[in-house]
Amino acid sequence: MPDPVNLLEYEALARQALSGPAFDYFAAGAGAEITVRENRGAFDDLRLRPRVLVPVGRRDQSITLLGRSLPSPLVVAPIAFQRMAHPDGEVATARACASAGIVFVASTVATTGLEEIAAASAGPKWFQLYVFKDRGVTRSLVERAEAAGYEALQVTADVPVMGRREADVRNCFSLPEGLTVKNLENAGHGCMVSDGVESGPSLYTRYLFDPDLSWRDVEWLRSITRLPVLVKGVLRGDDADRAISHGAAGVVVSNHGGRQLDTVIPTVRALPEVVNAVAGRGVVLVDGGVRRGTDVLKALALGANAVQVGRPVLWGLAVAGETGVTRVLSLLREEFDNAMALCGCPTIGHITRDLIAGRVAHLQ
Ligand SMILES: Cc1cc2nc3c(=O)[nH]c(=O)nc-3n(C[C@H](O)[C@H](O)[C@H](O)COP(=O)(O)O)c2cc1C
Repeated sequence: MPDPVNLLEYEALARQALSGPAFDYFAAGAGAEITVRENRGAFDDLRLRPRVLVPVGRRDQSITLLGRSLPSPLVVAPIAFQRMAHPDGEVATARACASAGIVFVASTVATTGLEEIAAASAGPKWFQLYVFKDRGVTRSLVERAEAAGYEALQVTADVPVMGRREADVRNCFSLPEGLTVKNLENAGHGCMVSDGVESGPSLYTRYLFDPDLSWRDVEWLRSITRLPVLVKGVLRGDDADRAISHGAAGVVVSNHGGRQLDTVIPTVRALPEVVNAVAGRGVVLVDGGVRRGTDVLKALALGANAVQVGRPVLWGLAVAGETGVTRVLSLLREEFDNAMALCGCPTIGHITRDLIAGRVAHLQ
C-alpha cells in the first residue's frame, strides 16, 4: 500500500499491523457508534467562507496556551495502552510530539510510567488524571506528575463508569500478557484483565475509579497542586461555567471519542455553547473526530484555543512507531497550514467565526 496522504488512510494500515482485539479496543466506540460517526460528520457538514486577497505568503500557526508558546494548536489526546500499538508505546509518541513541539498528554492508564515518559522526551507534557476512590492513590499520581515536570492536569470527568464498548465486551478484552498499567503497579493496580464476562477496562473502572466524583473534587485537586487543571469531557455551557467557577483553568470539549455514551452530541456542535459560557475565563480545547486540517481550522473558528487528536496518532504509532506518529502530526500541520492559506488566515488570530457558513447559533 502506498504511503498515506491523509490521516484517515492510516487506519487501514494500522488494522493490518494490530491483533483483532487490540484494533477493536483502539477503534471502538460505545453502543452503535453513532457518536463516533457523528464526531466526524459534524466537521464534514460545516462549510467554510474563505477570505481572498489577504497576503498569506508568510503563515504562522503558533499559539500561546496556558502561558507556553507552542508551534501549533495541536495537542495529542491522552490515550491508554500505547505499548499495545507498538513496543515503544508512549515513549515513541511523546518523542514524536517533542520533536514537533506538540503537547503530549500522558494517560493515567499508560503502559509506560509517567517518569519514564518524562525522562525520554523533553517536550511539553500534561498528565491526564482518572480519580481513584482511594484519594491517596490519586494524590500520589498528581504529586508524581508535578515532580516529573508535567505542566498541566486534565481530569477526566466523563468516566464515572465505563461506556459499553461492544467490541470489548465481545472480545472479553484484557491487556495482553506483559503489559501493565504501569503508573499503578506500586499501588497494586497494575493488572487489567477481563473476568470472562466483563472487559478488563470496565472491571478496572468499576473497582477503582470514583463514580461519585463531583465539582468539589475539582477544588480539591486545585488545592493539592500548583498545576493548572482542565476538566475533560464537558459538553454543555453550564458545566463549562461550573468548571471555571470551581477553579479549572479550562475545559476539554470531549465525548471521549464516542467511547462513553452513544448518541451524545458531536463535539464540534457542543463547542460554540461552551466557548460562549467560558467567555475567555479559561482555555477551551476540543477533541473527537479531528482528522483534517480543515477540522482544526473549523474548531478554532468556533472559538477553541487548541484541538486534541486521538486515534490517528495511535494508527501512526501502530504502523511505524515514532516515525509514524511524526508523519501523522506533520500531515495534520501541513493540511492546517494549507487551510489557513486558502482561508486568508496568515495567523491564528485571523481564524474567526465568520469563516464558518450559516448561523453558528444553529449548532448549539
Ligand atoms: C484507545 C483510546 C484510549 C483512550 N484512553 C483515554 C484515557 O486513558 N484517558 C482519557 O481521558 N481519554 C482517553 N481516550 C479519549 C481521548 O483522550 C480523546 O478524547 C478521543 O480519542 C478523541 O477522539 P478521536 O480519537 O476521534 O480523535 C482514549 C481514546 C481512545 C481512542
